[in-house]
Amino acid sequence: MVRAYNFSSGPAMLPEGVLEKVQSELLSWQGSGMSVMELSHRGKDFTGIARNAEATLRRILDIPDEYHVLFLQGGATSQFSMVPANLLRDQGADYIDTGIWSRKAIAEARRYGRVRLAGTGERCGFSCIPEPGSLEFDPDAAYVHYTPNETISGVEFSYVPDTSRVPLVADMSSTLLSRPLDVSRFGLIYAGAQKNIGPAGLTLVLIHEDLVGEPVAGTPTMFDYRVHVKNASMFNTPPTFAWYVAGEVFSWIEAEGGLEEMGVRNRRKAEKLYAHLDNSDFYKTAVEPGSRSWMNITFALADETCNSAFLSGSEAAGLKNLKGHRSVGGMRASLYNAMPEAGVDVLIEYMREFERTHG
Ligand SMILES: Cc1ncc(COP(=O)(O)O)c(C=O)c1O
Repeated sequence: MVRAYNFSSGPAMLPEGVLEKVQSELLSWQGSGMSVMELSHRGKDFTGIARNAEATLRRILDIPDEYHVLFLQGGATSQFSMVPANLLRDQGADYIDTGIWSRKAIAEARRYGRVRLAGTGERCGFSCIPEPGSLEFDPDAAYVHYTPNETISGVEFSYVPDTSRVPLVADMSSTLLSRPLDVSRFGLIYAGAQKNIGPAGLTLVLIHEDLVGEPVAGTPTMFDYRVHVKNASMFNTPPTFAWYVAGEVFSWIEAEGGLEEMGVRNRRKAEKLYAHLDNSDFYKTAVEPGSRSWMNITFALADETCNSAFLSGSEAAGLKNLKGHRSVGGMRASLYNAMPEAGVDVLIEYMREFERTHG
């Protein structure tokens, strides 16, 4: 059996060691005679798995005690609504527009109240992140929302916006766990799991206890953070298997050296690929150097008529899902934690050879 290098933006590669452990426990989890998929979410076996996963996540991210960790469903997309339903209030909120994902969050927030644009990547056609000095925050806003890493265009903040005392809310779907993070800078962090965390179907929310309050009237029970805090994310049946696999991913990160080590590896992988793009006339990236994502590297071929040959050749070589998002075209290589550096080396070798034969 040969494993492919899967460059998908998500669902993405999982660490092989995690898949092997899950496989070995699939039919009988720790001698229980049952798969985790068959365990009651209220039984002591699963609640132990759930507690362990949270404890490991708290250790690797060094999450302060004042934050609740929620294991929810509905994807980051549900958080686009859940955040304003719970936090927006009469003051309105500031949003930074850096691309497609932040715009989706903005569109949902507008259904709940006033949204101000505190900054935008318009100056460079959204191929850069706005400079810190260009951001203008309303000191009375209920919160500031931003997308630290735009998965589709491949732009990433190299800094955490300073919003003074206004709580900062971040959609970290494609960057959480890729490097160390000071959680205390944020009021709320959310992420769909299917990139660095685990299987699709799970959504992580870290929320400061001060932000857990009454949502707007009419909010569905499932969209009320208070309900999930009170019920330790077990108000209804949670995505038990995804939660268990995420716990195994957290343990893998810890055993590999934690987020420091993830950051070192991710930086090295990204820099290698960007260096190759910068040194070639055949490949180019539109993203400005100070805004380049470590996780999602977008690039185009100088001659777009070669796109389909590039993609069919890469698929045949075991380099999967390099096609860019349909809205931007071109190519995208997503290099999350589980992508080994060897995968980047093989990709660069393939690109070099493709350039030699098509350039
Ligand atoms: C930055 C970002 N936000 C939100 C989403 C939507 O996440 P989900 O599909 O989990 O709702 C994605 C999905 O790729 C994303 O990359």
